[in-house]
Amino acid sequence: MQAEWDKITAHLPPSARVVVLTGAGVSEESGIPTFRDPQTGLWAQYDPMVLATAEAFARDPKLVWDWYEWRREARRNVQPNAGHRALAELAQNIPQFVLVTQNIDGLHRLAGSPEVIELHGNLQRNKCSRENVVIDRARARPTENGLLACPNCGALLRPDVVWFGEMLPREALSCAIGEAERCDVFFSVGTSAVVEPAASLPRLAKQYGAFLVEINPRETPISGMADATVHGKSGEVLPELMRQWRLRWLKQSGPGE
Ligand code: OAD
Repeated sequence: MQAEWDKITAHLPPSARVVVLTGAGVSEESGIPTFRDPQTGLWAQYDPMVLATAEAFARDPKLVWDWYEWRREARRNVQPNAGHRALAELAQNIPQFVLVTQNIDGLHRLAGSPEVIELHGNLQRNKCSRENVVIDRARARPTENGLLACPNCGALLRPDVVWFGEMLPREALSCAIGEAERCDVFFSVGTSAVVEPAASLPRLAKQYGAFLVEINPRETPISGMADATVHGKSGEVLPELMRQWRLRWLKQSGPGE
């Protein structure tokens, strides 16, 4: 394993351009279920077509809203884990570090990551389902059946997250694509790498010459193309990555005794 760490850290001088793509796996150790893990994944227990599409919201807004309110409540009761914190620390040490996440839980920011490209939106925000603009909860009008309506047009508010069949936020996606094309090292962490377009980012980075590292307890469709793989939980692997990084790069820029 040390040889694999040496290979990875050799590609990570402080001057490297680094992109990290995260998925639900990085929040698993905080207590937020993933989507596709058998038994425990959300989509093993709930039908996304009934809860996470615009059609589902049009058909039964209360059901969809309440499901997201439940997820918000669950999110309020958890904290970032050691994996989130290690990524925040890496960002402090590598100036050209870009964090891209598919997660909507906001835990990266809470852990101290200064900038996060959120590809699938954010659970804490709401937007007008007609005008597509973000509306503060404090400004929303409560409806009779416990939902919230837009103060401008009266349409229902919905969570500002990307549902199946919807486009990703344009700026976030184009920024992530640009960074994937430019980076020296691309990490795919805790994602099953099956949901497009995020799943194409590691492939794109690799095509453009990046060194591709995967961190995941399981194999994924991109495992075969990874230049280095660490099988394990991100809450354990990422702090170890940080430790290995410090050993390699901080000892060289020490006080020079
Ligand atoms: P998935 O549930 O598809 O995949 C989670 C991945 O995390 C799997 O590959 C697991 O092996 C891995 N994993 C589990 N526990 C882990 C741990 N402790 N440390 C590291 N990895 C672990 O989640 P995503 O790939 O994020 O989209 O799913 C992508 C998108 O599909 C989500 O953003 C969501 C979902 O539908 C929307 O809601 C738009």
